[in-house]
Amino acid sequence: MEIFLILSREHETLPLAELRAILDAENIDYDLKEVVMGVVKLKTDNEDAADIIAKRIAYGHEICSLIKDTDIDNLENDILSIDWKEIIDENFALRVKKIESLENDSQIMEKKFGALIKAQAGEKIKVKLEKPQTFIRVLVTGSRVLIGKRETKIDKKHFFNLKPHKRPFFYPGSMSPKLARCMINLSRAKAGDLLLDPFCGTGGILIEAGIIGTRILGTDIDEKMVKGAAKNLEYCGAKDFHIFQADARKLDLEEKVNAVVTDPPYGISASTAGEESSTIFRDFLKSISNNLLENGLICLASPHYVSVNDLIQGTEFKILERHEIRMHKSLTRVISVLGRAG
Ligand SMILES: C[S@@+](CC[C@H](N)C(=O)[O-])C[C@H]1O[C@@H](n2cnc3c(N)ncnc32)[C@H](O)[C@@H]1O
Repeated sequence: MEIFLILSREHETLPLAELRAILDAENIDYDLKEVVMGVVKLKTDNEDAADIIAKRIAYGHEICSLIKDTDIDNLENDILSIDWKEIIDENFALRVKKIESLENDSQIMEKKFGALIKAQAGEKIKVKLEKPQTFIRVLVTGSRVLIGKRETKIDKKHFFNLKPHKRPFFYPGSMSPKLARCMINLSRAKAGDLLLDPFCGTGGILIEAGIIGTRILGTDIDEKMVKGAAKNLEYCGAKDFHIFQADARKLDLEEKVNAVVTDPPYGISASTAGEESSTIFRDFLKSISNNLLENGLICLASPHYVSVNDLIQGTEFKILERHEIRMHKSLTRVISVLGRAG
C-alpha cells in the first residue's frame, strides 16, 4: 500500500528523521518515495503502518492512504475515473489542503470536487461535513496533487494537556512533551524496551516513554526530583516505572537498557560551565557504556555552546544524527543521537 503523510513544518530536519526512526524502531519495511514540502509518500506492505506511526509521531499532522497521484490539469478527470463507491461507505467530506499557495481557491475546489464525487458515486452517498465516515484529502503541492483517504489525524491534544506547568510537579527547565516524544522516537525505543533517563528531572521524557509503552527507568541525583517525577508519572497514568536517586556518573543497573534519552545538566552558571559540566558528561558516558545494550542508542539534548563532538572524543560513541532547534536569539538546542562506533 502507499500512504502519504503531512508532517509538521515547524522544523527542517526533525519531522522526517523522527518518521524514519519510528519505521526503524517498529521494523516496518518501507520505500520512501519522495518528500516535498513536508509531504512524504511511502510504500509499505505493513497494513498497520499508518496506525503505528500515528500512535508515536510528535511532528506529524495526518496520514492518508493514497488513492491517486496526479496533477492539477488532470484532477477533474481523475476524480471522475475513481470508483468512489469502493472507497466511501455512506458519507464523506472532501477537504483541500494547499501546501504551496496557488491561485485556486480551496473552498471552490472542495465544492466542485465534492459534487463530482457525489455525481459519480450515486444517490446513496451523501456529503457530511461534520464527522464524516470517509474523509477525502486533496493535497495540492504546486501543480502536483495527491488524492487520499484519511486514515488518521494525529491527535496533538496530549502535547498541550501535559505541558510541564500542567503537571503536579513543576520545575523550570522541563522539556516540552513534543520534543521529549520526538527524542524517544529518535532513540528507536519500542514497546517493552527498557528506557533510561539518568537525569530525569521532573520526568518529562519518562512520561512520553510510558505512552509509547516502554518500561521506564529514571534516576536523578536530587531526591526532590525523584519524588516529583514519580508523582508526575502517576498523574499521567504510567504503570511500569522505576525511579530512584542515583548519580548518573556511577550507575550500575541490574538490567542493561535498550535506550537512553536524556537532557543532562551542562552547568549554565559561569563558574561551572567549563570543566565541571564536561566532566559530568564524560563520566556519564563511561557509566552509560556499561549499562547500555550493545546496539542501544543514546538521544540527548544539549545547548549549542557545548560541543558533543568534543565531549565524545576518547569514548566508544559516535554521533549518528544531529539536529539543531533554535529556541531564541541566544539559545539553540542540539539533539544528538549517539551509538557505539564500529
Ligand atoms: C536539565 S534537568 C532535566 C530536565 C528533565 N528533562 C525534565 O523534563 O524535567 C537535569 C537534571 O539532572 C539532575 N542531575 C544533575 N547532576 C546529576 C547527576 N550527576 N546524576 C543524576 N542526575 C543529575 C538534576 O537534578 C536535574 O534534575
